[in-house]
Amino acid sequence: MTADLHLGQLIQFDANPFFEGPAAGRHTARAALLVEDGKITDIGAADQLRAAHPDAVVHDHGAKLLAPGFVDAHAHYPQTGMIASWGKRLIDWLNTYTFPEESRFHDPAYAAEIAGRYLDLLIAHGTTTVCSFCTIHPTSVEALFTAAEARNMRVFAGKTCMDRNAPDSLRDTAQSAHDDSKALLQAWHGRGRASYVITPRFSPTSTPEQLIALGQLWAEHPDCLMQTHLSEQTDEIQWVQSLFPQARDYLDTYEAHGLLGQNGLYGHAIHLTERERARLSEVGAALVHCPTSNTFIGSGLFDMDGLTRAGHTVGLATDTGGGSSFSMLRSMAAAYEIGQLRGRALHPAELLWLATEGSATALRDTGIGRLAVGADADFVALDLESTPAIAQRSQRADDIWEALFPTIMMGDDRAVAQTWVAGVPLKA
Ligand code: GUN
Ligand code: ZN
Repeated sequence: MTADLHLGQLIQFDANPFFEGPAAGRHTARAALLVEDGKITDIGAADQLRAAHPDAVVHDHGAKLLAPGFVDAHAHYPQTGMIASWGKRLIDWLNTYTFPEESRFHDPAYAAEIAGRYLDLLIAHGTTTVCSFCTIHPTSVEALFTAAEARNMRVFAGKTCMDRNAPDSLRDTAQSAHDDSKALLQAWHGRGRASYVITPRFSPTSTPEQLIALGQLWAEHPDCLMQTHLSEQTDEIQWVQSLFPQARDYLDTYEAHGLLGQNGLYGHAIHLTERERARLSEVGAALVHCPTSNTFIGSGLFDMDGLTRAGHTVGLATDTGGGSSFSMLRSMAAAYEIGQLRGRALHPAELLWLATEGSATALRDTGIGRLAVGADADFVALDLESTPAIAQRSQRADDIWEALFPTIMMGDDRAVAQTWVAGVPLKA
């Protein structure tokens, strides 16, 4: 077994910077990570680790910042081909652009092509784990997990279930959604680095019968995550009220059908009522902030400050292709901008934590999103001077956070010098 010793700058989080402040992130200017068999087996000062592991193969990344691979907690890989589609708000955007594209995934060859393209784009952008919606077609799930297995990537995904308010070509039934999801779960959950996620798209596209069927499946497999959308746009919320007249609010359409729980991931969660906030907090469910999507589709401004102060678990995500970028750096920048519009400047430590350990926490996975002994060796080397514009700003920085912030705000895939998945460099 070879041991690889990676040298560079390092930030490690000892605690959550939302609670403990920026000092929760510890910076070492000359640090090392020892990687053996896909895991981080030692970490510390470069000189110490070189002396302790004289036989390790040394990879010196100079002043590059070694950071955990980014964790994108909510995305739609089938929307890769129609990202950046112009001029619509949520429901029109779904009907005009999204559903026609998702209809193409009945074709296994097309699904495989997009799945491979998508994961390679993620790696280019430094993302090593995604939690993705697929389409209603089981073949779309097979394609993503197969492509992830070929790259040994930690991927969470599930068949998107819809049995109403979608074109004929994109509708399943309550029974087939349950049965197909169950078969996929049994085939893939826990196979290699795959995790199956029970995936009702959102309550407008599921009948109560389908929500109940998926709630039952979740009750049988409570260790699985369940992902969906919640309170993204105000007209969507009104539509939900008209479709579920008995429901107290949007969250209740999930709660009443067995789809509210600690392992639930609720994407967007922008326009929440007091009751919804209280219930989400009580059950300890995770919320996923999708900032580039929220500005692109015009959905609203997520209350990061209020929700994190109240102790909610919050992950960060691109929401590709409602989101306008594959990049978690761009997502951090958009989260910063939305924070500013709400009067709370997120610190670079908070942004980096959200895109790594925060999202991993939302996905209930302690093995990723961290640089620590025993963690999976999914990491990136960030070039903090990847363009002339970024370099001229970071060169006058007084500390690591000021050096990192221009890359957060202006960086893209050029800032990701390399991405390692389970210790193997995959960026072309
Ligand atoms: N709500 C239901 N489906 C979707 C989707 O595909 N993208 C976004 N942003 N919101 C949704
Ligand atoms: Zn989404």
